Amino acid sequence: MPDLFATYYFHPRADTTPREAAEALAEEQTTGTWTDITTRTESVRRLDGVVESLEPLGTGHLARFRFPAELFEPGNIAQYLSVVAGNLFGLGRLDSVRLVDIEVPPALAEPFYGPKFGMEGVRRLLGTTDRPHIGTIIKPKVGLSPSETAKVAYEAAIGGVDLIKDDETLTDQAFCPLAERVAAVMSRLDEARSDTGRTVLFAVNISTRADRILDRAEVALENGANMLMIDVLTSGFAAIEVLAGDPSINVPLHIHRTMHGALTRNPDHGIAMRPIARLVRLAGGDQLHTGTASGKMGHVPVDEIRGDNEALRGPWHGIRTVFPVSSGGLHPGKVAAELGALGTDMVLQAGGGIHGHPGGTAAGARAMRQAADAFIEGVSAEEYARDHPELAQALLKWGSSPARS
Ligand code: 3PG
Ligand code: 3PG
Ligand code: MG
Repeated sequence: MPDLFATYYFHPRADTTPREAAEALAEEQTTGTWTDITTRTESVRRLDGVVESLEPLGTGHLARFRFPAELFEPGNIAQYLSVVAGNLFGLGRLDSVRLVDIEVPPALAEPFYGPKFGMEGVRRLLGTTDRPHIGTIIKPKVGLSPSETAKVAYEAAIGGVDLIKDDETLTDQAFCPLAERVAAVMSRLDEARSDTGRTVLFAVNISTRADRILDRAEVALENGANMLMIDVLTSGFAAIEVLAGDPSINVPLHIHRTMHGALTRNPDHGIAMRPIARLVRLAGGDQLHTGTASGKMGHVPVDEIRGDNEALRGPWHGIRTVFPVSSGGLHPGKVAAELGALGTDMVLQAGGGIHGHPGGTAAGARAMRQAADAFIEGVSAEEYARDHPELAQALLKWGSSPARS
């Protein structure tokens, strides 16, 4: 049976060689511990982790490990993570270590449901083929009542967005109860559909404790929700799995990754986005935030984001694709940079970049769509703005900026 491979970037402690540090990691995560033990028999050692390759890279070392498939309980992400992303981060013989990627063999991918819709399924719901989807996050992220939220959603919808989402800190607080919010927003989105003929998705943030996720999903669906949202790192991968595995949940899942900066930000230590993206795909997320090429969270090289998006969109174990989402600090003047760097099979979201438009939310949504149309037509935003006043106003306020390198 093929094994699982994991790649780490690490810096050994000054008194430890790279090989010793790598061996310490392999032992701690599999059959060994800090000293020899009499119970580690030959038969147990078939589960040993093996350092397959080790090479210097930058100021540190890159190592690829083989973890025997038998070490894992098929279908248990919590257990997979305890091996590939467990105690190792605290080991004293390493100054720092970052999990860069995992290669999951078929037997360990097979038990998962994967996305019900995937990129193609979400596109089918909206009838799009190859243009980027444009979304907005209702802003302010907290504080609006259900009817105020619905009013903003309506404006964004008639302005032309494809998707509206709750922000990551909004769930079911007293100032904006979830059931009431969904009912109000969906009724205004119905109105927008009568006005424009377009369906717009509303991703309701149902993140909560594990035993309440399904109930909350049901409440959202009863009130008309056509997409559900999970903050995966604060709720846990199981929150996605329980929804992906339930046949009564027939709407796509939008996955936010709030808190990921604690794992992904330090290039020497933590967990890169790549393994998180792979696990979200296994668990069944239909779209996932992976970062922007020009936005407000600027710590990841654009090449790495491109690779993360490929991990979501490329063929993988026959599991459906995941729609990559770029969000955080975007506005119409950054659309060309995003699409140029990351391609058009993307969801681009703007909160401030839509609701901060001088003409209001509907004008902001129009400006985002115009910026995307300009890119697709191969025209610069500045040129397109000559006969698209909303885009012109946005560029006047925010200018346009290039992608990071
Ligand atoms: C936000 O909530 O502002 C962001 O979309 C987070 O962006 P990130 O997932 O790239 O950190
Ligand atoms: C998100 O959750 O993606 C954001 O809150 C993005 O908001 P912004 O576009 O105002 O940065
Ligand atoms: Mg947010």
